[in-house]
Amino acid sequence: MKIVCIGGGPAGLYFALLMKRADPARDITVVERNRPYDTFGWGVVFSDQTLGNLQSADPQTAAQILDAFNHWDDIEVNIRGRRIRSSGHGFCGIGRKRLLNILQRRCEELGVKLVFETDVQGDEDYPDADLVIASDGLNSRIRAKYAASYRPDIDTRRCRFVWLGTKKLFDAFTFAFEQTEHGWFQAHAYQFDGDTSTFIVETPEEVWRKAGLDTMGKEEAIAFCEKLFARYLDGNPLLSNASHLRGSSQWIRFPRVVCQTWVHHTGRAPVVLMGDAAHTAHFSIGSGTKLALEDAIELARCIGRQPGDLNAALRDYEAVRSVEVLRIQNAARNSTEWFENVARYTHLPPEQFAYSLLTRSQRISHENLRLRDKGYLEAYEDWIAERSGLHRAPTQQPVPPMFTPFRVRGVTLKNRVVVSPMAQYSCVDGVPADYHLVHLGARAMGGAGMVVAEMTCPSADARITPGCPGLWNEAQLGGWKRIVDFVHASTDAKIAIQLGHAGAKGSTRVPWEGEDQPLAQGNWPLVSASPQQYLDGVSDWSRAMNRADMDRVLQDFVRSARFAAHAGFDWLELHCAHGYLLSSFISPLTNQRTDEYGGSLDNRMRYPLEVFRAVREAWPQQLPMSVRISAHDWVEGGITPDDAVQIARAFQAAGADLIDCSSGQVSRRQQPVYGRMYQTPFADRIRNEAGIATIAVGAISEADHVNSIIAAGRADLCAIARPHLANPAWTFLEAAKINYLDVPWPKQYRSAKQQLERNLERERAAAAQVVGLSPLEQANRALGV
Ligand SMILES: Cc1cc2nc3c(=O)[nH]c(=O)nc-3n(C[C@H](O)[C@H](O)[C@H](O)COP(=O)(O)OP(=O)(O)OC[C@H]3O[C@@H](n4cnc5c(N)ncnc54)[C@H](O)[C@@H]3O)c2cc1C
Ligand SMILES: Cc1cc2nc3c(=O)[nH]c(=O)nc-3n(C[C@H](O)[C@H](O)[C@H](O)COP(=O)(O)O)c2cc1C
Repeated sequence: MKIVCIGGGPAGLYFALLMKRADPARDITVVERNRPYDTFGWGVVFSDQTLGNLQSADPQTAAQILDAFNHWDDIEVNIRGRRIRSSGHGFCGIGRKRLLNILQRRCEELGVKLVFETDVQGDEDYPDADLVIASDGLNSRIRAKYAASYRPDIDTRRCRFVWLGTKKLFDAFTFAFEQTEHGWFQAHAYQFDGDTSTFIVETPEEVWRKAGLDTMGKEEAIAFCEKLFARYLDGNPLLSNASHLRGSSQWIRFPRVVCQTWVHHTGRAPVVLMGDAAHTAHFSIGSGTKLALEDAIELARCIGRQPGDLNAALRDYEAVRSVEVLRIQNAARNSTEWFENVARYTHLPPEQFAYSLLTRSQRISHENLRLRDKGYLEAYEDWIAERSGLHRAPTQQPVPPMFTPFRVRGVTLKNRVVVSPMAQYSCVDGVPADYHLVHLGARAMGGAGMVVAEMTCPSADARITPGCPGLWNEAQLGGWKRIVDFVHASTDAKIAIQLGHAGAKGSTRVPWEGEDQPLAQGNWPLVSASPQQYLDGVSDWSRAMNRADMDRVLQDFVRSARFAAHAGFDWLELHCAHGYLLSSFISPLTNQRTDEYGGSLDNRMRYPLEVFRAVREAWPQQLPMSVRISAHDWVEGGITPDDAVQIARAFQAAGADLIDCSSGQVSRRQQPVYGRMYQTPFADRIRNEAGIATIAVGAISEADHVNSIIAAGRADLCAIARPHLANPAWTFLEAAKINYLDVPWPKQYRSAKQQLERNLERERAAAAQVVGLSPLEQANRALGV
């Protein structure tokens, strides 16, 4: 078999040596345009787990790499003169040059042909090859040539960065943030050999321009960075070794590369992408070289498994690696965005800023940090708890952020978990009766800080279905009061009502008889911002509200708010999301009005704000009000997270206490991107940009998620919906799973608490024994770091 690797970076060299090692009869060539042992760049970083993979692939190179590595455990975050350290992160640094030299030498030793100073024009230069590897890096010529096959998507990111070195030796992976009159700059610094550290300086493009770096020469730009980060450099200069790059061109914007396919069939030999040519992952999660080496390991493994069937091996390679790479790219995207928007977080206290940085990729969670550095995490938990007024006695366990109280106006929630509103469609004439008493009562007994009753309608024609609850008459008021009284008398949870009008999505069947389908009979007329049919050709048409409709509906909301106060609810949420009436005004997809209620976002917000203000006026001042919004329509031309910040600001100015950040359900054309905690970035952005408290919701399914969100200041409360349908006592179960025992259970249930805790403890012990790894090793293995 004749193999040619175009490009002698880590991917090409490592693949070549693995293939030669597996079968010395193979004829393998690596063609590199640079001179031998010549490269630019400073150090690269691996996690301990990557080293393990190298060890099994070729112990000999692994041993040399290990020998050359600089290993460290600490991450240090510097901001506003504060320095915060945490440990247990397990990283290794190695000079890029050193790494390439080890790989080149090993190639030579095994008999791989290394051809230098040859700039390859295309794979056709090697007509007799059986397999061509396009390992020609980020700006791959081969990828560009066969772009129609590989279908690359290249997203050039917002920050400018420069890769520098210094003789200052950092004893931790060091992040430093410095403010200038133009904006924030950050440095990522780590020692990678006995006398040198990498020092990357990064800032958003607009800050870079304002600071004049776009017109500065190389020396001047370096002097600028030296001055800015002088306090970390102890007089050591910053060094550049990219002699081929001049002036501002050494500041690059990171291109995130994703390819739809990785194999191109030419009719001659297949041409296979590997390493940076196939994908990139932002340097802030330090994974580019790891991915390149692991691509090489996987392709060598696939070919080894199916020696006679190259095409099958290539299919397996692409299938396995594209999934793994996507996982890392998702984490890298979160990390990139965090650094791009660092100014959003710099107002946080340094302790919380550092925690937010550590958990930025959403792969390292609260419990994972506990395994890495228990002392750091517990001290941070105490810090968070003290900020919400808790001071623990030395005999007590540290309080996880999920279990810290939250106060707003005159109401204190005992913890940060909210049972999210969930329509049950089980009322007759809008009256909540036994079903709702049991449903909401059980969940209020299950440990959550607050239960939000489902969308409750201010009039009969405001309902989604005939089964929806209402609050427009005394019978309904009585039904709600019975439930609220039970929750107050028998639990320490608070209870909220969510008021909403269905708009164009009303007059439909209960979901189990045909979701969103109009009623078979007895349909009522629908109103919304503009005429629309929610399901094309199926739903009834709504008509645009006129002023008289608006006044009537506003008064209906006010009446419901007064009834809600009489019923004793602790909290009121106004439903302005999911395409219902108030949402239909906000989204440009459903509002085509030409009067002062349509057009600009300010105009579209006018009616929802009128309703909000009137309800706020009618609702007791000491009680909080939240607003649920769709922070993203997930449709081109619809509401975006940028708009959501403006929407939140408008409700905040009108007196809203929190924004409940949901998304979608406005248009059937929506294309949401689901995933763990997928709507939390909206809560994060609104909280930290608009400066208003938020509720995160959507695929938050473990205590670990809640703790990470609250501790990082991404939201103030977490609303959990579907997991509460599966288990009313979700909060109690999750507390026991993280071994937090100081949660009071209802007195009638106490005997179950200890049994649950004991059983879970046994399960944890058994799992640890079976796997034979430490908890941190298990967690890291699950994360792939
Ligand atoms: C600032 C910065 C920091 C980074 N930090 C880290 C880190 O901490 N950890 C980490 O793992 N990764 C890091 N990386 C990424 C890492 O450098 C790359 O992901 C990794 O080198 C990819 O390996 P590769 O073999 O695919 O590509 P490359 O290393 O880019 O190798 C490609 C090779 O192909 C050669 N070539 C290109 N075209 C031709 C041609 N036509 N003919 C012949 N030869 C050609 C090039 O000269 C080059 O030697 C960082 C990158 C940057 C920019
Ligand atoms: C059965 C059901 C009914 C729902 N009804 C409402 C509702 O009345 N009001 C509302 O704002 N959201 C409603 N939602 C959305 C949830 O409150 C929540 O935002 C969504 O389910 C995502 O959270 P989860 O991933 O924890 O389930 C409902 C969700 C479900 C599953």
